[in-house]
Amino acid sequence: MSAGDADLREAFASAHFDEGMTLDRFIFETTRARPEATGQFATLLQQVSLAARMVSSRVNRAGLAGMLGRTGEVNVQGELVMKLDEYANDTFKKALEHPGVVAAVASEEDEDLFLPPARFRSGRYVFCMDPLDGSSNIDVNATIGTIFAIFRRKSEEGTVATMDDVLRPGTDLVAAGYVIYGSGTVLVISTGDGVHGFTLDPVVGEFFLSHPDLRLKPSAKLYSVNEGYAASWDPRIRAWVESRKAPGMGWKQRYIGSLVADFHRNLVKGGVFLYPATDSSPQGKLRVLYEAFPLAFLVEAAGGAATDGRRRILDITPKGLHDRTPLFIGNKVQVDEITAALAAPAGTAG
Ligand code: AHG
Ligand code: MN
Ligand code: MN
Repeated sequence: MSAGDADLREAFASAHFDEGMTLDRFIFETTRARPEATGQFATLLQQVSLAARMVSSRVNRAGLAGMLGRTGEVNVQGELVMKLDEYANDTFKKALEHPGVVAAVASEEDEDLFLPPARFRSGRYVFCMDPLDGSSNIDVNATIGTIFAIFRRKSEEGTVATMDDVLRPGTDLVAAGYVIYGSGTVLVISTGDGVHGFTLDPVVGEFFLSHPDLRLKPSAKLYSVNEGYAASWDPRIRAWVESRKAPGMGWKQRYIGSLVADFHRNLVKGGVFLYPATDSSPQGKLRVLYEAFPLAFLVEAAGGAATDGRRRILDITPKGLHDRTPLFIGNKVQVDEITAALAAPAGTAG
């Protein structure tokens, strides 16, 4: 973590936030105190906010503008109808490329690392994103979102970014966040100290601070997992989940099927999310760089924990842009219990 970034973390942590503060003012307040801040980070966040508002507007009109899945038709605006996740991918990449603040983008939608054109290579940040998480929920109008993680590049500014800038441990992250497009649009962000949520007022087109300093209690009685795969889980996971259902335990189960929505509910109300390895996803289904890393960064900044069943998620160093991992994330007591269950000899009941 460079001095500039450490300062930024401290600035985010120390700035006084009053409800109703706009995201722009939040960014200004927390970066202006840094004389050496070149404004690149502030610009990056402003561009994320712009892209988020554009995607939010499209998501809310998806049913009308023929954006539900690729139809290949030309819609009323004369545009080729694109899938929403392609639209989200293009929108975030364009918003990040122009101001020259990002040297590379790793996206779920792109096989390889996206490198902006030469004239934009001065950027000092690397942006990893799932431009639209929960795609399978689009045509049933369920909550979806954008998840992102931000590294500061290792390679020289002005040079072409390399894979070493992005295949690195999650502990190198300087910021992470997500945008959730649900009954409202909420942008949640952290630079490591404090997690803050901003809700979009679509009428004025501004994000307003609505969830200052989101914190997780040590423990909560809610688990979130797709139990359809229970037969193929590690028996110790099955035992842990079954033991939550025992009479008198008083646990709840919720599963939306969009990671970003399941995570946001747990961040706001408490709970643990599990996506164990299954027969169809033996390495786990969720991607390290742009699903597990950003949410692990946020959950730790909010006092929670995230492991792959053995290791802290942020200690993983991915070998490829699209590496997958099992994910256990949420209140620390529950994550530790699950991790301990998987450390016990196989065949031990939960
Ligand atoms: P994406 O739409 O970006 O591919 O992510 C989908 C993921 C994640 O959002 C969710 O938690 C998970 O898929 C749901 O998987 P199952 O349908 O197997 O439960
Ligand atoms: Mn996803
Ligand atoms: Mn996606």
